[in-house]
Amino acid sequence: MFESKINIALFFGGRSAEHEVSLLSARSIFQALNQDKYNIFPIAISKNGYFRSLAVSKKILFGEDKRVPEVERTNVLPEGILNLLENKIDLVFPVLHGPFGEDGKIQGFLDVLNIKYVGCNLRASAVGMDKAYMKQIFAYNGIPQSKFEILKKMDYSQQKSSNFFNEFAKNLGLPFFIKPANMGSSIGISRVNDLQSFARAVNEAFEFDKKLILESNVEGRELESAVLGSEKDIKVSAAGEIISTHDFYDYQAKYEDQSTELIIPAKLSPAAKAKIRNLSVQAFRAVGAEGISRLDFFVNEEQDQILVNEINTMPGFTKFSMYPLLFEESGISYSELLDNLIELALKKDK
Ligand SMILES: Nc1ncnc2c1ncn2[C@@H]1O[C@H](COP(=O)(O)OP(=O)(O)O)[C@@H](O)[C@H]1O
Ligand SMILES: [Mg+2]
Repeated sequence: MFESKINIALFFGGRSAEHEVSLLSARSIFQALNQDKYNIFPIAISKNGYFRSLAVSKKILFGEDKRVPEVERTNVLPEGILNLLENKIDLVFPVLHGPFGEDGKIQGFLDVLNIKYVGCNLRASAVGMDKAYMKQIFAYNGIPQSKFEILKKMDYSQQKSSNFFNEFAKNLGLPFFIKPANMGSSIGISRVNDLQSFARAVNEAFEFDKKLILESNVEGRELESAVLGSEKDIKVSAAGEIISTHDFYDYQAKYEDQSTELIIPAKLSPAAKAKIRNLSVQAFRAVGAEGISRLDFFVNEEQDQILVNEINTMPGFTKFSMYPLLFEESGISYSELLDNLIELALKKDK
C-alpha cells in the first residue's frame, strides 16, 4: 500500500460567520479522505478564536454540534496542538471560510510556522477576500465586472448622505449594491433604490468593515465555476447555475432556504461556456490563486454579457456544495478532488 501515511491537520470552525458551514465542510472532507493514505488530526477553532485540543476536536467533528463550543482561556493554542503542528504534521487543510480563515491570516500564521497548507497563500487569500482590492486587480487585468466605487468610512458623512447618494446614483445607476469590502455569505449586503435605504444600508455595511464597495446592479443569471490546480496547470470545471427564489442570493438563500436550486451543468451556449472557462483562468491567475478557488459570474447571454462577480479562495466544501459538485460533473470525484488538493499543497515550496 502506501509507504507512510501523510499527516494532515484539518482546521475547522473559526471566527467568521461561516463557522457552521466550515463544520459541515470538515465533516464531509473527513469522511471522504482515504484513511489508508492519510492520518487526519481534526483541530477545531471556536468562534472566539481558541484552538481546541485534539480529543475535544475529534468529539466535535464526530458529533452533531452545529458549532464548536466556546471557551474562555488565556492560551489560544493549547500546548498539545502547537507540538502537533510543529512536529507531526505534513500539512494543514484549513477548511475555514470568511474572515480569519479565507483572508490570509491563518495562511500567514502557517507560513511563520513553516507548515504547508491546502489552497491559496496569504496574498491571494487577502486579495480574494477584499472585494475592493479584488476588483482593482481584476480591472488592471481587463477582467469584465460590474461598475464599482469604493467608499471609506473616514470619507463618509451621514449629514451629507444625500450628496453621496446622488453622486453614486449618477455613476452607478439605480438600483445599486452596497457591500462591506471584507465579508462573505452576503452579510451586510443591500440593494438600494433611494436615499433612505441608502443611508440605512451604508450604516449597516460599515458595522462589518471600514471600507465599502458600491456596484451597479447586474441583471443576469448567477453562474459559478470551480478551479483546481497551480498557475501552470489549471483545471476548470463545467459551470453551474444558482436559482434563488429570493430578491438576491442572500444569507437565507445560501444556507437556510431549501428551495435554492443548483443546476449542474448550466445550460449555456458553447461560446458562453468557453468565455466562462477563460475568465476563470484569468481571474485565478490575476489574484495569484493556488490550488482551489470558485469563480462567480453574472451571465446575460441576450446582451452578450459575462461579468466576474467574485473569487472565493476557500469555497463551501460539503457534499452538497457547488465546488465539489462541479468537479464531480467534470469527472473528478469528491475524494479525488481532495487527493489532488493535497498533492498540490505538498508540491509547493515552503
Ligand atoms: N452587482 C450586482 N448585481 C446584481 N446582484 C448582485 C450584485 N452584487 C451582488 N449581487 C447579489 O448578491 C449576492 C452576494 O454578493 P457577493 O458579492 O457574491 O457577496 P458574498 O461574498 O457575500 O457572496 C450575489 O450572489 C448576488 O445574488
Ligand atoms: Mg458570493
